Amino acid sequence: ELRDELEKLEQQFYVDRKKLKQISERFQQELEEGLQDHGKNIAMYVTWVLGFPTGKEKGDFLTLDLGGTNLRVCWINLRGNEHEIGIKQQSYKMPDSIKTGDASSLWSFIASSLQTFISDHSLNGAFSNPLNLGFTFSYPAIQDYIDQGILQTWTKGFDIKGVEGEDVASQLRSAISDLNLPVSLVAVVNDTTGAMIASSYHDPKTIIGAIFGTGCNAAYMDKISNIPKINSSDEIKKLDPETPMAINCEYGAFDNARNVLPLTKYDEQIDATSPRPGEQAFEKTSAGLYLGEIFRLIILDLHSRNIIFKDQDISKLQSPYTIDTSLLSNIEDDDTPDLSDSGNEFKATFNITMTQPELQFTRALAKLIAVRGARLCATGIAAICRHQKISSGHVAADGSVANKHPKFKKRWGRALGEILDWSEADREENDESGEGDESQKGPIVLTSAEDGSGVGAAVIAAMTLERWGKGQ
Ligand code: BG6
Ligand code: GLC
Repeated sequence: ELRDELEKLEQQFYVDRKKLKQISERFQQELEEGLQDHGKNIAMYVTWVLGFPTGKEKGDFLTLDLGGTNLRVCWINLRGNEHEIGIKQQSYKMPDSIKTGDASSLWSFIASSLQTFISDHSLNGAFSNPLNLGFTFSYPAIQDYIDQGILQTWTKGFDIKGVEGEDVASQLRSAISDLNLPVSLVAVVNDTTGAMIASSYHDPKTIIGAIFGTGCNAAYMDKISNIPKINSSDEIKKLDPETPMAINCEYGAFDNARNVLPLTKYDEQIDATSPRPGEQAFEKTSAGLYLGEIFRLIILDLHSRNIIFKDQDISKLQSPYTIDTSLLSNIEDDDTPDLSDSGNEFKATFNITMTQPELQFTRALAKLIAVRGARLCATGIAAICRHQKISSGHVAADGSVANKHPKFKKRWGRALGEILDWSEADREENDESGEGDESQKGPIVLTSAEDGSGVGAAVIAAMTLERWGKGQ
């Protein structure tokens, strides 16, 4: 019975090469539509980061990161020499209640974390006054200037009232001034742009910054003559048309019209119960926040049909989003005979005793979901590469899925090669099963991004001060 179910699921979840190509072609069209006009499904936001850094950017910066797993504050010293960077950092666990609360609790929590950090590291008065801040805010935001970000919609399960449609920079500034902190906000940065800039600070082969984490998205550099929608801006008219501009794609929204993505009933369920149904269709199939939830929904479905965990109390599996991506990668990586590690983890976490066929089934299921995610993730990067006619380089990647799921890179690389028609020689190491050697070959490779929301945000703040003095 379980075997029959697995076969059915395989048919729904396996995305073959032909389908990958079809998805990626539509992806490229949506990216290009977003460059053409404002308000398109993939937003393609201009970020006002006008080119790659030289590696000589200098200065001391406070940075703040909101949008990944933790709130993080850093103190970054850029010494004008790409190899030498001083970093002090602290993560602050954001209470879950804030994620669905209101704007004032969000900003006061953030400002008080900044205050704690400044005092713990004795930064007050010791350096330039005020301290220049680079703020990584990893949600879709329109930027008419680099030190502004008008939140369009929350993503990744956040649902905080009073921020959508507002400028997050001015909301943060007012919380900073309520606490009289000696801090001046210089730049608002998306995590993808931060990853790209931090990586290119050291690595000139960087072409794209990509996040495969709680959410998924990418940034790349385009020239402003390729971005017709900003032609009429006075600021743009002052610039040479060849000037590069970093674009935050916000491609988690790809195919919100649901034309090409191979969505299953479980994907529809995730969407329907999310705070923003209809949005982030692509992200909901492939990002870390959702992989465990897809797994959970499938298990619940099978249990309700009395196919798995018969006569077991599965109440602990009933609460939404209780399965972390790490559980999926643990099951896949379990090399104990009889998968006893996975069995023990399920017992300890969910109080479920699994049979051998159930263990084998859950492992196959974890793989199906992760393989689909990795293969779909390649369609977006392939679309950027084709749009830019890029045939080689480094995709600087960050996020829990890229870093903690050991087989992700290889599966992603294999799929990228299938879409971009790499020769067999380029692809042969990337066997579909993802077993064996985890290295990834091919002209476009995934590299581990440098610290985007620390170093990247600081470098962007330094570039901003160099170009515009204070902010933009
Ligand atoms: C971190 C970056 O390493 O990865 C953040 O510093 C980014 O800026 C994050 O948002 C994404 O990963 P995750 O898995 O925390 O969403
Ligand atoms: C979501 C956000 C986007 C961010 C990505 C990765 O897609 O909307 O801004 O870059 O997650 O964190």
